[in-house]
Amino acid sequence: RHPGWPAELGPLRVAGGLVSLRSLRLRDAAAWSRLRLQNREHLEPWEPTGESPWEMRHHISVWPGVYSSLRAEARKGHMVPMAIELDGRFCGQLTVGNIVRGALRSAWIGYWVAKDVNGLGVATAAVALGLDHCFGPVGLHRVEATVRPENVASRAVLSNVGFREEGLLKRYLDVHGRFRDHMLVAMTIEEVPGSVSDRLVRSGRASWV
Ligand code: ACO
Repeated sequence: RHPGWPAELGPLRVAGGLVSLRSLRLRDAAAWSRLRLQNREHLEPWEPTGESPWEMRHHISVWPGVYSSLRAEARKGHMVPMAIELDGRFCGQLTVGNIVRGALRSAWIGYWVAKDVNGLGVATAAVALGLDHCFGPVGLHRVEATVRPENVASRAVLSNVGFREEGLLKRYLDVHGRFRDHMLVAMTIEEVPGSVSDRLVRSGRASWV
């Protein structure tokens, strides 16, 4: 077992309801596949280019393989792959990846949330809970994220939780068929007096249950 996995985090209350995070499960297959297929247009412009067509990559039969490789990475302490739940229903994912220990103690964070629950504070609350987990049980010093400058909603999420802009990475990642510029944002533990979730609650964007 590695620190921070498996985990159950939250809940935080936001406009949309109760937001919590939990480890992914094998039985998430149906919900995952349905949301990923329904939300293709919403997700595809912002996600790494896949090697096979969207429909094929998100067929329900693919989940056991996807899930077991994520779980294997989690058990090695390289990743923390979580489901985002709104009022107990699977509505997105939050992933902490490339966890590096030693003198760096850093990782990246990424997320998606189904379109029909967008704009209700779900991703903001999920990222706050995820960051506190990284700086707490996972034992990280720094968490970074990369976002396309055009991704206004995701930039709002990152800014809501207190990420700091570090620069522009030219042609950084193969997203939606081309290498795209990404903004690099980061946060180190020194920038979090108390917790990110507490700060979010103090700012009025969420409340403890
Ligand atoms: N213009 C301006 N602001 C916008 C727009 C827009 N077109 N759309 C949304 N917003 C703002 C909202 O007003 C809100 O800001 P506020 O809290 O200051 O009012 C913010 O964007 C959204 O905040 P949340 O409600 O917490 O986020 P939500 O649950 O809607 O999820 C997310 C946002 C994750 C970006 C979702 O839209 C999504 O999954 N998009 C597709 C995948 C994606 O882009 N993932 C992120 C990739 S980058 C990364 O992972 C680091």
